[in-house]
This record gives sequence, structure tokens and C-alpha cells, in this order.
Amino acid sequence: MTQTMTRIALASRPEGKPGPENFRLETLPLPTPGPGEFLARVVWLSLDPYMRGRMSAAKSYAKPVEVGATMEGGAVAQVITSNTPAFAPGDYVVGNFGWASHAVSTGEGVQKIDPDAAPLSTALGVLGMPGLTAWVGLNDIAGAKSGETIVVSAATGAVGSLVGQLARAKGMRTIGIAGGADKCAYATAELGYDVCLDHHAADTRTLSQQIAEAAPTGVDVYFENTGGKPLEAVLPRMNTHGRIALCGMIAWYSGIEGAPPAPAVWGAILRQRLRVQGFIIFDHFNRAPAFRAEVAPLVKSGAIRYRETVAEGLAQAPAAFLSLLEGGNFGKQLVRIAPARA
Ligand SMILES: NC(=O)c1ccc[n+]([C@@H]2O[C@H](COP(=O)([O-])OP(=O)(O)OC[C@H]3O[C@@H](n4cnc5c(N)ncnc54)[C@H](OP(=O)(O)O)[C@@H]3O)[C@@H](O)[C@H]2O)c1
Repeated sequence: MTQTMTRIALASRPEGKPGPENFRLETLPLPTPGPGEFLARVVWLSLDPYMRGRMSAAKSYAKPVEVGATMEGGAVAQVITSNTPAFAPGDYVVGNFGWASHAVSTGEGVQKIDPDAAPLSTALGVLGMPGLTAWVGLNDIAGAKSGETIVVSAATGAVGSLVGQLARAKGMRTIGIAGGADKCAYATAELGYDVCLDHHAADTRTLSQQIAEAAPTGVDVYFENTGGKPLEAVLPRMNTHGRIALCGMIAWYSGIEGAPPAPAVWGAILRQRLRVQGFIIFDHFNRAPAFRAEVAPLVKSGAIRYRETVAEGLAQAPAAFLSLLEGGNFGKQLVRIAPARA
């Protein structure tokens, strides 16, 4: 019997909000690794907001996924057979293996991970790309300092949850913005935010008024994960010479939600002399060793908390991804593709 694998292909490019029709589950023959390659079975697939950008043909910092090709994505996998001395059967690895049950790789951009050092899934979350993004954004991009006040949007998500905890550990006043009472309760009780503002809650005060009350001396740093209403609300509260680490703008990825008018945004940046710096984590991978040296022991000791939302099986990946874009995830969104041990 021919051995097979499964994958999720991009079936079509979405116009606006993506839907299940944009994805297709396919069964293919299991590939054979060539010289210098290995074959791995995927254990954990990471779902990340940037994947919405890869579904679109619009110009970006990375090439789009072609229609008919495997959806791109980071994953933890275990090597099954190997034709390269760099990787042995049984090794656990993290790399860009895509939305698939198996992958063949040359090992480029792939790193081995120690399954005994931390749960395998953390290589895609708190100790992986989102964690590095939080650490670089807070330290290198925002230059955050003790005694300052920070606002973090998507405060309980994969990136935001670590930003808040690292900022608190620095001695900052931390204000999170999150969607829903449960997320806000977790933000203050578990992640240690001083205040969490629920952007879904009905409140007679505007979000901007709530930020003003939570930040009596104004906001020094805004860690921007969302754009949309949180950005509009925080801009007037930024202190003179405040800094914005522009990490993401998920509210606008599908081009549906409205935006504050450019004169309001530029006006705030000019009047308050703000420094706004966008960053893409690919440019900062050289910071990964310093990040891991600081954060891995904190995760191991339990000083840094993290939370995961797990979808079961590759077929659930599209629904889990669509849910992530709407805030359905609570912490890092993952898909369990196969058990850790074969
Ligand atoms: N620059 C980089 O290199 C880089 C790297 C990684 C991630 N990012 C960006 O960082 C941001 C967070 O990524 P993540 O992986 O940590 O995702 P995440 O925060 O775990 O999940 C996304 C969250 O965004 C919030 N959200 C969704 N739609 C929203 C809307 N219309 N308005 C306000 N909030 C909304 C939801 O949280 P609530 O339910 O709390 O609203 C949702 O749970 C994304 O924008 C992502 O693209 C950038």
C-alpha cells in the first residue's frame, strides 16, 4: 500500500475576510527525501496572524503562498528518515514545514530542539518566534524602561502575554487591552498586568478615557499588535517623546475594520513627537540566543506563564486559523498534528 501524507493547500485567495472555501485538505503520496534531505512527521503546527498576509498577492515583506501550494507555517516535527548527517531519525526539529502531516527538508532554517528542556509546543510560542518578537519589541525597538507606563494590545495573545510579563518584571506600569472578561481576568490574575481593559465591554467611558484613568501620568510605550480601536484610543494618551513598537495590525489584515483618519494619526505623532518603529522579526533572529538565555529559565521556573489553545488534527487548521483572526484563541494558537512520540 502506498504511504500517504495530508496537507492543507491554499484553494483560492480571499477577498476581505477569509473563509473555509479558501483552503483545501489534500492527500498525497508520502515524499521520499533526496540526497542531503530528511523526512519528518509534523507534531505541532503553529497558526499565526501573518498567514493572512501570505494568502494575499499584495506586496509584502515575504512572498505570498501560491494558489494550490501548501499553506506556509512554522511547525515542530520529528525526523523519520535522514540522508544528512546533521539530522538523525528521532530528532525533534522546528522549522517552516507548512500545514502538513509530513515534510521533506534540507535542514535550511531548521533547528534541533531538546524535548526534555521544555514542552515541544513552546518552540512555537513563548520560546519561539512570538516570544522573540515580544522580547525584541520591548527591549530593542521600544527601549522600555523601569518606571514607565506601557499599553499592550492583544495583551493575552502569544506575543502580548510575554510583553506584559517582561514589562512588569522591568518595573513598568502595565495596561493590557484584550477582548473579553475571561481574557482580562487572566491578564491581571495570571500575567500580572496592573489593569486590563476589555475592548468588547459595554462601558459608558470610551476606551481612550479608560486608558487615561489607568495611566494617570500618560503612556510612554505602546506595544502595537492590532491597529484598529486600540490604536485610536491610545494615541491621544501618549506622552511627549513616547515610543510605539509597531509589531502588527491584525484588525486591518482582512481590510474590513475602519481606521482613524491619517491626519489624526500623523497629528498625534507630530504633536507628541512620537517615535514609531515597525519591525519584522526575521531581521532580529541574531537576538534569539540572548532571548532564550533570559526567558527559557523563567519559563522553566514558572515565573513566566503562557497559555495555549489547541485544535486537534490538521483538518481543523483552517477553522482554528479563522477563529484566531477573530480573537477566538486564548494564548498561542496551535494545531496538534500527531502525538509527540510515534
Ligand atoms: N512584526 C513581527 O515580526 C511579528 C511577529 C509575530 C507577530 N506579529 C504580530 O503581532 C500581533 C499578535 O500576534 P500573535 O501571534 O501574538 O497573535 P495573538 O495575539 O495570539 O492572536 C491575535 C489576537 O488579536 C486580537 N484581535 C483580533 N482582531 C482584533 C481586532 N479587530 N481588534 C483588536 N484586537 C484584535 C485578538 O485578541 P483579543 O481577543 O484580546 O482582542 C486575537 O486573539 C499580530 O498583529 C501579528 O501579526 C508580528
